[in-house]
Amino acid sequence: MYEGLLTRYKEYLPITENTPLISLAEGNTPLIRLNSLSDELGINLYGKYEGLNPTGSFKDRGMVMAVAKAVEAGAKAIICASTGNTSAAAAAYATRAGVKAYVVIPDGKIALGKLAQAIMYGADIISIPGNFDEALKAVRDIANTEAVALVNSVNPYRLEGQKTAAFEICEQLGKAPDVLAIPVGNAGNISAYWKGFKEWHDQKGTLLPRMHGFEAEGAAAIVRGEVIEQPETIATAIRIGNPASWKLAEAARDESHGYIDSVTDEEILNAYRKVAAQDGVFVEPGSAASLAGVIKHIASGQIKPGETVVTVFTGNGLKDPDTAMSSADIKIQKMDDVEAMRQHLRDGVAQL
Ligand code: F0G
Repeated sequence: MYEGLLTRYKEYLPITENTPLISLAEGNTPLIRLNSLSDELGINLYGKYEGLNPTGSFKDRGMVMAVAKAVEAGAKAIICASTGNTSAAAAAYATRAGVKAYVVIPDGKIALGKLAQAIMYGADIISIPGNFDEALKAVRDIANTEAVALVNSVNPYRLEGQKTAAFEICEQLGKAPDVLAIPVGNAGNISAYWKGFKEWHDQKGTLLPRMHGFEAEGAAAIVRGEVIEQPETIATAIRIGNPASWKLAEAARDESHGYIDSVTDEEILNAYRKVAAQDGVFVEPGSAASLAGVIKHIASGQIKPGETVVTVFTGNGLKDPDTAMSSADIKIQKMDDVEAMRQHLRDGVAQL
């Protein structure tokens, strides 16, 4: 039986005999070949579907490790700032470990599904008028003086847990891809993947990918080289103007001979619709930033024809039903009898 990341990758993680091996069977997510997009784009494209983690995002990988270490150190409560997914994961793993979760979120800027999760898992939810960056600053201050463990990705155990996704990709493909494309918000995940690829290569000789990270244009602090005071993007998950792991992300980019670039909301929405409609994978808008970036970098020649590319789909499309409903061309037809349905189907099938 699969028992989650702390058991699966125990020897590669900072686990001691006192670390509680908590689990919701996170990790072990599918690497899905995107057949239609591969043909269209002329590359060998895979999606690492992190939306199939227990709370629907990659955050579970880091959170299981961070919460386990917090409990090991005697914490009774954890705290995080979040654009939504971190709060869902923190709330779930806190419940699992028997501690209290405090989550601080930007008012009105978190997707509905994520808020519903934090509510259902029983977190103490605090909403602030500011953005994620301000929420992060507040929780860092609070964690300095209060008896609560900070579980944002500034906590190094988060990156330790998150690096396991790179291990899985190497195991699933048999080696590292040529390119790893990933959305960048607070920049923890790109840093964690790079750490994971390097460690796995050191152990198993699986080679190293080029890291291509993508920020949303309205929140592209690293690309522009300056803090963005008022970040804006439809992809609320990555609506972050002052990434905490900025330097680590730049190191991942430089060491891997990769790029950190930006994509517009229009490019994000295009990729978001395409991967669902063409390859049957529903991801949240923030996750589609990586695919939008792949499309952009094929056009610009930064990704070459025939290369093997893994795009990380960080969160499940079900997290954000509002964006799905408002961005798609909705064709729901009301019919009141079977004959009308039959005729509708005949007309449709005749055109296939
Ligand atoms: N994709 C999704 C779906 C996310 O929720 C996040 C970050 C990212 C990508 C970016 O990852 O921050 O490591 O660069 N979400 C955080 C949160 C900020 O609070 O849930 P990153």
